[in-house]
Amino acid sequence: MEETLTVVDNRTNTTYTFPLFKGCVRTMDLRKIKTSADDFGVMGYDPAFMNTASCQSSITYIDGDKGILRYRGYPIEELAENCSFLEVAHLLLRYELPNEEQLKGWTREVMEHAFVPENIKKLIDGFHYDAHPMGMLISTVAALSTFYPDSRNVRDPEVRKMQMRRLLGKLPTLAAYSYRYRRGLPYADPDPDLGFAENFMAMLWKQPGKEYKPNPVLARALDVLFILHADHEQNCSANAMRAVGSSQADPFVSTAAAAAALSGPLHGGANEEVLRMLDEIGTKDHVPAYVQSCKDGHKRLMGFGHRVYKNYDPRAKIIKRIADQVFEVTGKNKKIEIALELEKIALEDEYFVKRKLYPNVDFYSGIIYEALGFEPVMFTVLFALPRMAGWLAQWAEMLEDPEQKIARPRQIYTGVWERHLTPKRQTA
Ligand code: CMC
Repeated sequence: MEETLTVVDNRTNTTYTFPLFKGCVRTMDLRKIKTSADDFGVMGYDPAFMNTASCQSSITYIDGDKGILRYRGYPIEELAENCSFLEVAHLLLRYELPNEEQLKGWTREVMEHAFVPENIKKLIDGFHYDAHPMGMLISTVAALSTFYPDSRNVRDPEVRKMQMRRLLGKLPTLAAYSYRYRRGLPYADPDPDLGFAENFMAMLWKQPGKEYKPNPVLARALDVLFILHADHEQNCSANAMRAVGSSQADPFVSTAAAAAALSGPLHGGANEEVLRMLDEIGTKDHVPAYVQSCKDGHKRLMGFGHRVYKNYDPRAKIIKRIADQVFEVTGKNKKIEIALELEKIALEDEYFVKRKLYPNVDFYSGIIYEALGFEPVMFTVLFALPRMAGWLAQWAEMLEDPEQKIARPRQIYTGVWERHLTPKRQTA
């Protein structure tokens, strides 16, 4: 079979044949289609990248129709069952799962970077008492850029590796400090001897002068949630990380941009919105009316639907299972009943069936986060911490890809063609 595409330009009756690259037409080839020598040529028009591959990637594979998610070839189910988050972060950033010795070294390398400069605490102290933790995270991670000017040398692979360790290690500390600031609690220093999730829990909930022992079931649940959120190929925030990073901005400010993208309610902010929605619904018997208002276009069923998944999100399935383990320790979060009823009704309803709208990762995660003791404003922060691994993997892959350049889309200009100032205005 010949891997080419033949196009006829009906304006000029000219036939063009283009090679297909891995099933794609390179849209730069379309520029050869011209009506005259000085014609710019044909462009692709694809708002929101609905059908445009912006890169080649070997990190994450999703088959949205079959509900498949794999990191570097491993099914998410196997990773969630058998690995720790730091092992998965190693897989994403260093291509393979670590052996025992590598894991020890990697854990030490990341955890010793958990400390943040003292001035960051002063920066957090300057926020309003009820500042949203995502706003604090975005600002403080950007501020880290000023402490590590060496990070600007993004072309140096060793410098890149150092920033990966710094960012992975420090993000939980920034998140925990934001959490404690909102509660008026003193900041708790990281403990590099603890595991990734355990250290985070200790920084959140350790009481001054007392020992804190995280519940192992809850620590494991949080770690699995981190695995599930670690990467998701070219989503809005990964795309932001790549786009900003493509200007060779340092990874701290690029992460701030990615986290900003994540904070929106259509992306990582959805988990917070799901809890607000469940609160608004209040009881199971209000579910049908709520579903109806979504169908009427007045509301959106938060935690449902996905650009890529047209089947049950495999992460949502795993999260549903973890919920039971968490509830055994914390007691049941009553909102699960409303969520299950919403899912049941929505999955049978023609509106949702026809549009292939299924629960996504955010539908059940908030219920677990709440059972663990987090308020909804922290939920997107909990998404950002593990996604750091994915953002960094995407960022490094972009910088190492010889085909990538500064991201700079084209546009179709629709404004006034040309006009001129009146003489009076020119002299004013
Ligand atoms: N509730 C009701 N209707 C919906 C929903 C929903 N959650 N999602 C999509 N639709 C409808 C939409 O109105 C449209 O209907 P019609 O064809 O009649 O105009 C159709 O389904 C296609 O939707 P779309 O908005 O064109 O799809 P999209 O690929 O642009 O958007 C999405 C994907 C995730 C932004 C969207 O499904 C959504 O807003 N979901 C709720 C927010 C959410 O849960 N986001 C988390 C996504 S998963 C985690 C992450 O990536 O961050």
